[in-house]
Amino acid sequence: MTKSVFEKGFSYDDVLLAPKFSSIKSRRDVGLETNLSKNLRLNIPLISANMDTVTESGMAIAMARLGGIGVVHRFMTIDRQAEEVDKVKRFTNYIIETPYTISPESTIADYKELSQKFGVSGFPVIDKSGYLVGMATERDIVFENNLGKKIKVIMTPREKLITATKDIAFSKAEEVFKKFKIEKLPLVDKSGKLCGLIAAKDIQKTTLYPRAAKDKKGRLLVGAAVGVADDYLERAWRLIKAEADILIIDIAHGHSVLAVEALKAIKKKFAGQEVIAGNVATESGVKDLIRAGADGIKVGVGPGSACTTRVITGAGVPQLTAVLNCARAAQKYKIPIIADGGIRKPADITKALAAGASTVMIGNLFAGTDEAPGRITNKEGKRYKLYRGMASFGANVSRRSLDTSDEDKIFDNLMLEGTEGLVPYRGSAKDVIEYLVAGLRSGMSYLNAKRVIDISRNAKFIEITANALQESHPHDLEKA
Ligand code: XMP
Repeated sequence: MTKSVFEKGFSYDDVLLAPKFSSIKSRRDVGLETNLSKNLRLNIPLISANMDTVTESGMAIAMARLGGIGVVHRFMTIDRQAEEVDKVKRFTNYIIETPYTISPESTIADYKELSQKFGVSGFPVIDKSGYLVGMATERDIVFENNLGKKIKVIMTPREKLITATKDIAFSKAEEVFKKFKIEKLPLVDKSGKLCGLIAAKDIQKTTLYPRAAKDKKGRLLVGAAVGVADDYLERAWRLIKAEADILIIDIAHGHSVLAVEALKAIKKKFAGQEVIAGNVATESGVKDLIRAGADGIKVGVGPGSACTTRVITGAGVPQLTAVLNCARAAQKYKIPIIADGGIRKPADITKALAAGASTVMIGNLFAGTDEAPGRITNKEGKRYKLYRGMASFGANVSRRSLDTSDEDKIFDNLMLEGTEGLVPYRGSAKDVIEYLVAGLRSGMSYLNAKRVIDISRNAKFIEITANALQESHPHDLEKA
């Protein structure tokens, strides 16, 4: 028999947070550091979603530079996903330990191909044994029309290069760049073999983004998603090799035998690897995943702006209630909760954290930015970008097209629990992140919350009426 007692579920718009006496004098005085998982910390509680219209390396870099993290989606080949992770790890690392290199026997055409593939300009030239024999940079090739010309002819030879050793301090490296006005500083060991590279751009980026979320080696943090079937263990292995800081098990119904088995298998095979599992929306879902080894739990069944799960299946829990229940269950185990989906405005972030989440995951609001994959499109004079649920028609077809060109297989028996549409073009991700963070800081000041953890400690939710919701939004104004 079905239980006849109906629980009530709330979403972010159903509540407000009662303001408290605040001793916070400036919004700048609140700290936004938080736990992403058991052993990883972020400097702001924001994560960009593992969706193909949201997070690849560009978005992940923008997120981590400002203190959050991006999760590279899995709807691409394993090689490509590992490459996207690798691009992030190489980004602000002021020492690139294994730089891309070129051989003296390569041609200018090879240089151009490498440069385009990896998005870098300027390569150390090394011989077959790994000895540095020169540097080839844009300056060397810019006026060369003969694409067949060998690198050894156009490169700056070893004897004219400025080099350093791997133990060079950051301040010393800065000095070298200023003094010699070079763009790349190759690092060599005692025998003259190449053992690293410093790029002027990376030195500059490090000083521009003091709050960046970084690993122990000073590189930007990045997450990557894996599924629960087929080649997921191979994918996990390659992503770990590419040094993804955290893996996210990506399955819509995370409270399932598939998710539990995949989580256990990953944790067993890759001991010590931090793994977030989800998505769940109930206390028992949280407990089962924590018992299976999860280091973080992603919460949200159906709140996302491109989700149709609730409409198709009837399953789901309104997001505020889901976060409240899941956070309560996870607290005992000290495992952080990610509130995933349904964030439409800065206030929703404060409410999610007030309900006990440590971070929020966002798709829609980031999908309209320059850093999200995909082009800007025009409609009736306005600019937009495409956003799609990962269980939408378009995403399913793209995913299947990776494995086959047989149309019968591509279109057969599609199970759709997501939709797609246009979102307004929003400029740079930095602007959107800063807008959300400013709102959160303000929200924290109303709750006298000096740290993220204080938000839930100080929160008192008030259930509001339809009239109160109307009152909460601008009203009685003509559009200017
Ligand atoms: P927002 O509200 O930021 O939510 O757009 C992003 C989250 O939505 C989830 N997601 C889906 N849920 N069908 C679903 O039911 C889908 O096709 C789908 N695609 C994404 C996901 O949790 C994401 O982080």
